[in-house]
Amino acid sequence: MPSTCVFGAQWGDEGKGKIIDRMATDADQVVRYQGGANAGHTVVVAGEKFVLHLIPSGILHPGKVNLIGNGVALDPVALLAEVDGLRERGVHVDGSNLRLSASAHVIFDHHRVMDNLAERWKGEGRIGTTGRGIGPCYADKASRTGLRVGDLLDEERLAPRLKAALAEKNAWITEVHDEPPCDYEVELQRFRELGKRLAPFVGDVGAELRDAYAAGSMVLFEGAQGAMLDIDHGTYPFVTSSNTGTAGVAAGAGFPANKLEGAIGIAKAYCTRVGEGPFPTEDHGDEGQKIRDEGNEYGATTGRPRRCGWFDAVAVRYALELNGATGLIVTNLDVLSAFDTLRIATGYRIAGEVVERYPVDVDLDELEPIYESHPGWGEDVTGARTWDELPARAQAYVKRLEELVGTPIVMLSIGPERDQVIPLAALIPELAKGGA
Ligand code: IMP
Repeated sequence: MPSTCVFGAQWGDEGKGKIIDRMATDADQVVRYQGGANAGHTVVVAGEKFVLHLIPSGILHPGKVNLIGNGVALDPVALLAEVDGLRERGVHVDGSNLRLSASAHVIFDHHRVMDNLAERWKGEGRIGTTGRGIGPCYADKASRTGLRVGDLLDEERLAPRLKAALAEKNAWITEVHDEPPCDYEVELQRFRELGKRLAPFVGDVGAELRDAYAAGSMVLFEGAQGAMLDIDHGTYPFVTSSNTGTAGVAAGAGFPANKLEGAIGIAKAYCTRVGEGPFPTEDHGDEGQKIRDEGNEYGATTGRPRRCGWFDAVAVRYALELNGATGLIVTNLDVLSAFDTLRIATGYRIAGEVVERYPVDVDLDELEPIYESHPGWGEDVTGARTWDELPARAQAYVKRLEELVGTPIVMLSIGPERDQVIPLAALIPELAKGGA
């Protein structure tokens, strides 16, 4: 489809990087529209591993234009480190294939300091953020005290706005948290220099995108994090600070909402979460540990061990419905080969009642998932490239997932390499007609 959004249908880390990298082959523009360097999209090309935090995954494809929209919380230090790192590995990156919105909000040093202080202040109630300054940057945006990329390039604007912002932040840092203030002169000098290095990439991303789309370009929107971390629809307050799915595209990229045609959700064949907050199907025992070991479930951004558990069909169905998914891609199916028995949560029990629809105003820690069990297939599936090459029990498991989430599964991923996928067509024909 000429415009497609790929979004996470769980709590992030669903393997979006690899899928977007594949889909980028057919795209002209690949666009990040929300989040920031809290994301970590892992792509493996010919055995070489790339972890991208801010730059869209299309950068690994020569000739693609990569756009960072106004909705991204832009950390210039992280972006330029990523540019340097890619160049060192021979990847071409300059203003011809990477462009950045002048309206994206900037993450300053003080945002990272504030992120960590806010977490410390919350104590037991902490969110478990990535510490990348995401929340404080978006809070400043909403408070209308933030600085944007365009401000970095304009000395007349940068100095007074940074001074005003920092005076307020420093009062909070010193008086509420009893920590040393951030130095205005140091930050000014640092971000002035960073602004100069960013300048060749800066432009009007929204206008470029609308023009390109009108001229027939294929546009791919790369969501970061996942639906259950969405600030409005996720497990608030244990969420990130942006709209992670299709709703974020229009606001975060300057692309008309009614021009978005495709929405592909990505979910693992099981489930993980990093940081604090509800996770109904989390397994605290041996099975959770086994998923972590088999799936190498450690954060791409922070290295934290991920919490692991079984596929939650209630949450994924909700995520797909919410984002108008036209298809679902299930990743990491190969990780489940190590299990004799698999479980899928098909509903929740809340105060004795069985619920099959995701409940929006319930303490998710209070609910009990209802599981059904499936026999494992007990053999390696990483070499399969077609549906027919999968063991019958793996086929049955995937079909059951599709039935439960109510959206066609259009592809399976069975390993980290670009070619380790199985494209699917209409497992359940009635679903293929409608989408979520
Ligand atoms: P923040 O986005 O750093 O403020 O973190 C808020 C919550 O979102 C924390 O639970 C993080 O662990 C989680 N989070 C943020 N980015 C990602 C991601 O890319 N993958 C998974 N979890 C994430």
